[in-house]
Amino acid sequence: MIEWTDKLSTGSAKIDEQHKELFVHINNLLAALSDGRSKQQLPELITFLEDYVIRHFNEEDRFMVAVSYPEMEGHLAQHKLFLRRMNDLKQMIESDSDSDRQAKAASDLLVKWFTNHIMILDRDLGSYLKKA
Ligand SMILES: [Fe+2]
Repeated sequence: MIEWTDKLSTGSAKIDEQHKELFVHINNLLAALSDGRSKQQLPELITFLEDYVIRHFNEEDRFMVAVSYPEMEGHLAQHKLFLRRMNDLKQMIESDSDSDRQAKAASDLLVKWFTNHIMILDRDLGSYLKKA
């Protein structure tokens, strides 16, 4: 599970709210992966999470453009990379029915990547937005 703490605060209330909602969707997916009974919900949960991530990234992209954020290029590249890896994860979940491997792959991508991304790049963006 992924948990929002003050350490993940970006200084932008809007971004923080979206991250909190994102974590709810991530946790719903992780819960479904670790519970054999909810397998039939997986495609729906994955699609839902993917849509939310895309909307959230688009919103961050708009913030960056609005303030001509100097680190925009690198940040956008990370968002693109994430979406590719999310697609790989989706395919992995479809093709590999081993629940433990699915749960590990999902946690590695969703929990680790987001925690790391928020801690470094989103916090950097948040403090720039505050100054701008
Ligand atoms: Fe971001």
